[in-house]
Amino acid sequence: MTKIEMFTGKGGVGKTTMAVATALHYAQLGKTLLISTDPSGSLSEIFSQPLDQRVTEVAANLDAVELTRQLVLDLWREKFADEIYAVLSSFLPVGREILDYIEGAPGIDEEFMLDYLLTMAQSGTYQTIVWDTAPTVTTLNLLFIQQLFYSHMTQAQKVYVKVKNVFNKVDPLALINKWRDLTAQVIELLQTETTAWVVANPERLPIEQALHIADSLNEFGISVNGFILNKMLPPEVCSNHPFWQAKFQAQQRCRERMLFAADGRVVKELPELLGEMKVDGFLGEVSKLLRKA
Ligand SMILES: Nc1ncnc2c1ncn2[C@@H]1O[C@H](COP(=O)(O)OP(=O)(O)O)[C@@H](O)[C@H]1O
Ligand SMILES: [Mg+2]
Repeated sequence: MTKIEMFTGKGGVGKTTMAVATALHYAQLGKTLLISTDPSGSLSEIFSQPLDQRVTEVAANLDAVELTRQLVLDLWREKFADEIYAVLSSFLPVGREILDYIEGAPGIDEEFMLDYLLTMAQSGTYQTIVWDTAPTVTTLNLLFIQQLFYSHMTQAQKVYVKVKNVFNKVDPLALINKWRDLTAQVIELLQTETTAWVVANPERLPIEQALHIADSLNEFGISVNGFILNKMLPPEVCSNHPFWQAKFQAQQRCRERMLFAADGRVVKELPELLGEMKVDGFLGEVSKLLRKA
């Protein structure tokens, strides 16, 4: 079964950087897919090619895709629209424009992103999927909507049994069971094949968020590998000016807080580097530091 490694944390802390560096590393070991579900994702810019339309090879053994809302909705239509229309039109006098209405419902795109992840994991094409997620809140919504959807489907079953006779073209129960089964598979994929790294910078807010998200992931049943404390100022560059000395001290206090709260869980520390993404050698250096940390 394909393993999924997700990177999560507050905006701007370095999730994409860690995800890309990790994906490049896994690509040396086997076929790897890099998926971003961040609506303001930057994979297309990093790899200098459009990745928001379909899965595209970006390096040897490495495919990438950015799951934009539009791409997700297109795929959703392809896969589910006919079934949904068949159910609705069998008891309501509606045209296919009802699908536009459903598409606008909150959570449909998030719901389908995870279905896409499942399809990719089950395709058997990839040894590893590296998942670059949206900032904290959106990702947690994504997970909890999945659970809501599952219990909704369980409830729906009971309701539809009562009104079964109004359906003439399709068996809604069969469809509901199918959707419910898919949702159960997604939850199982997340709980058994997925592990998470929570990324933070040595500042108060990103750290508090990281601790919160780690708790939420655990609650959901996703196992947390540990934390990555990214952009630590190296002490040697901070000794000559009171501003940088104070900044360094502040970071160290945040680091202490992180280590204490991590309570034995892994905390990888990465320095603030001179380079940045898209500059040659940067991702290679991050990848090396990540493995050493
Ligand atoms: N260790 C680091 N040293 C220097 N720059 C970094 C480091 N980690 C990330 N960056 C830079 O910080 C910015 C934000 O990183 P990014 O990975 O896009 O964060 P996120 O995906 O969490 O929003 C990028 O410009 C990236 O190049
Ligand atoms: Mg990002």
